[in-house]
Amino acid sequence: MRHRERRDRPEKIQRRTLLKNFGLVTFSMVVCFAVLTQHLPSFAVVHNDALESQRGSQSVRVSKKPKSQLKQQPRINYSAFSHRAHVTQQKLSCDSCHKFPTKNWKDVRKGDAAFPDVAEFPEHASCLNCHRQQFFARERPQPRICSNCHVNVTPRETSRFMFPSLGDVSDSSKQRKANVSDFSINFPHDKHVDVVGLNLGVRLNLRFVSVLWQQQPSTSSEPKSCPVCHQTYQPQGDSTDEYVLKPPKNLGDDFWLKKGSFKTIPTSHTVCFTCHNAGVGIEPAPSNCGACHKLATLLPIPANDFDPKLTAKLGLTDQTTLYLWSKRSSSGTFRHEGGEHPNVSCLSCHSVPTMNTADLKTLLVPVSSCGGAEGCHITPRLMTGEF
Ligand code: HEC
Ligand code: HEC
Ligand code: HEC
Ligand code: HEC
Ligand code: HEC
Ligand code: HEC
Ligand code: HEC
Repeated sequence: MRHRERRDRPEKIQRRTLLKNFGLVTFSMVVCFAVLTQHLPSFAVVHNDALESQRGSQSVRVSKKPKSQLKQQPRINYSAFSHRAHVTQQKLSCDSCHKFPTKNWKDVRKGDAAFPDVAEFPEHASCLNCHRQQFFARERPQPRICSNCHVNVTPRETSRFMFPSLGDVSDSSKQRKANVSDFSINFPHDKHVDVVGLNLGVRLNLRFVSVLWQQQPSTSSEPKSCPVCHQTYQPQGDSTDEYVLKPPKNLGDDFWLKKGSFKTIPTSHTVCFTCHNAGVGIEPAPSNCGACHKLATLLPIPANDFDPKLTAKLGLTDQTTLYLWSKRSSSGTFRHEGGEHPNVSCLSCHSVPTMNTADLKTLLVPVSSCGGAEGCHITPRLMTGEF
């Protein structure tokens, strides 16, 4: 079952299997909150005529027989699409639903910023074959299945959410869909540190990349590539204000979140598809969704200090912060910007050659690299490096 929560930013909170003892309570609270804050139904009455007429104009290609005649069963939550049911159980390929590129790619990003991308939800045709019954269900205010893609389907308002791959696009007219991703990202850092960053922004040609790839030493001490994809989030910079939000007067030694604690992670295809595109031809091709998106398995929720009670006390509502903190295996007290940290190479804390972005354990930062004068507030688990 998938849980959704209202979010302004599209970053996902990865689905992780709960290990007992770890953050179960915290997680349940997040989930309850998520469920309670789900978008409220609109009270407009849906006229399926709109859909009927759409159906008339659309040729529904029948490529596969439904495995079973789908019955309207109250147990199945048709407002919560899961890839597991479709990819694992129904053995559907990504491209049976996701088209690449989608026809709107030139509209979502303008001019030079535009690149062929998957920028829209799958079309009705990819579902109707099996879900005719759910699409034409007599449900008010609208069939539940519509809400996987549409904000609304009233006769006047048929808007869809912004497709979540557009994390870098700002369009205040579009609502973002709350999303707990079914996937984790497969990004082999070791194969990229030396090729990324050298000439990004320019469309690279394959030969050029290969040459650079071979020339670069495999362990350069100060990788230039990291900031291409990871920037310090909400840095303090020259400001004298070290906290993200104003602390209470009587803070004392209590914890209060500081600026520059987190590093961002990519939220779109913009960087990846600079090299992984049809023109340059480096595998995986952009249409090969499954090479980079792996159905998440066994990613344990870390026993970190991310706690909705604490974040509420701190007054945090920024979705990027909440997301990055929730993903931390260690503590929100570690600050990338603070103290000596900016002078330490990323590589001395992050074991880039062994990092597997789909396996949380490999992302743990050993304490040895962190110890020393500043005396970071480190959780015991970070010290032992165990789960
Ligand atoms: C049966 C149709 C179908 C198939 C097959 C399918 N998808 Fe999707 N996908 C959807 C729909 C519908 C959505 C939007 C609803 C949602 O976000 O749950 C979506 C959303 C997504 C998202 C954003 C939400 C998330 O969970 O992260 C990603 C990423 C994605 N698909 C990747 C893939 C990949 C990779 C494959 C192949 C392994 C695949 N999809 C196969 C229909 C499909
Ligand atoms: C090959 C047949 C097939 C296709 C194509 C298909 N589905 Fe499904 N879908 C199923 C089956 C089987 C289930 C399991 C539950 C059931 O029997 O209804 C399911 C379940 C669901 C559910 C319930 C939650 C879940 O995922 O378990 C939703 C929502 C859903 N599908 C949406 C869609 C949408 C949207 C599309 C098109 C983008 C789509 N499906 C395409 C066969 C299909
Ligand atoms: C898998 C995602 C998905 C689901 C589920 C879905 N739609 Fe859509 N819908 C789309 C997309 C994508 C388009 C745009 C198609 C195009 O432009 O060719 C669209 C277009 C429409 C349109 C045409 C108006 C417009 O905005 O372009 C109507 C009306 C509509 N959908 C109604 C519905 C209704 C009613 C349901 C539920 C019974 C539903 N849709 C379920 C993805 C979806
Ligand atoms: C081309 C883009 C790119 C470059 C360059 C890059 N990364 Fe990453 N990094 C990613 C992606 C994508 C992820 C996975 C994010 C996710 O799980 O959604 C990631 C994940 C990480 C994580 C784990 C984050 C977490 O979830 O805990 C760390 C740590 C990290 N990168 C450090 C680095 C360092 C250090 C460098 C420079 C040597 C670097 N990265 C270079 C794209 C990049
Ligand atoms: C002094 C050690 C140290 C240095 C130097 C360092 N990091 Fe980190 N980084 C950490 C710790 C600790 C975490 C939290 C890991 C966890 O528990 O999940 C982290 C987390 C991250 C994350 C995940 C998002 C977040 O903030 O939790 C990314 C991405 C990342 N680091 C990138 C970088 C990059 C890029 C550099 C170099 C510019 C760098 N780090 C330098 C210790 C360090
Ligand atoms: C500067 C160009 C460049 C960028 C940007 C880039 N890649 Fe790559 N990528 C490559 C090259 C070159 C290879 C082949 C490396 C090899 O085979 O050793 C590759 C290979 C891969 C592979 C296949 C690795 C394997 O084991 O075969 C994956 C998966 C991948 N990239 C994902 C990504 C993702 C995800 C992003 C964005 C976060 C990204 N790449 C950004 C150049 C790039
Ligand atoms: C070269 C690697 C690569 C390929 C190929 C790729 N993606 Fe992605 N995708 C990424 C990265 C990296 C992100 C940003 C990290 C994130 O948001 O998890 C991303 C983000 C997304 C998101 C938004 C994040 C989310 O989980 O909701 C969606 C949706 C998505 N991709 C769908 C697709 C679909 C559909 C395809 C195939 C047509 C595809 N991607 C092909 C690497 C790739």
